[in-house]
Amino acid sequence: MGHGGNVIAELSTDHREVESMFEQIQSLPAGDPRRGEIVDRLTVELVRHSVAEELHLYPAVRTYLPDGDALADAELDGHAHVEKLLKRLEGLDVTDPRFDETVPVLIAEVKAHVADEEAHLFPALADACGPDRLDELGERIRKAKDRAPTRPHPAAPDTPPGNKLVAPGLGLVDRARDFVTGRGQ
Ligand SMILES: [Fe+2]
Repeated sequence: MGHGGNVIAELSTDHREVESMFEQIQSLPAGDPRRGEIVDRLTVELVRHSVAEELHLYPAVRTYLPDGDALADAELDGHAHVEKLLKRLEGLDVTDPRFDETVPVLIAEVKAHVADEEAHLFPALADACGPDRLDELGERIRKAKDRAPTRPHPAAPDTPPGNKLVAPGLGLVDRARDFVTGRGQ
């Protein structure tokens, strides 16, 4: 959800939230149903974060950084790979050994994304655009994330916006992505 501050503060707070979900998952034993529930929440948070970055961060990266196109393309590749892992997880029961094999791969991928953005992309963007622009991007990112569903589990909500997540025929990743981009509304 929205936190506050400029684009870098906003997205870094998302990163800390996701890391804390990783810790929760890792603190639970294999096969524990709570691991599945956390992965569902994590899926929505990651999709929300990714879509907000795709809508507002990477276009700014392309505009302001000299190697922006290559950087943005690499980030998009990373997002696609993470979504693939999330889709694999949503098709697996929490007691399936493949669930436990996939979770550490996902965690490693996302941690690499986080480290890369915070060490390279964010500082470069901060150098390249002024504080007002960073603030404005933070506001746009928050608005984009606010469109996202807050309740990932189909059984949970029966009022908007969470009920849109029960749309049949699509997995959680696609439903969340449709929701944030506005296609699901
Ligand atoms: Fe990020």
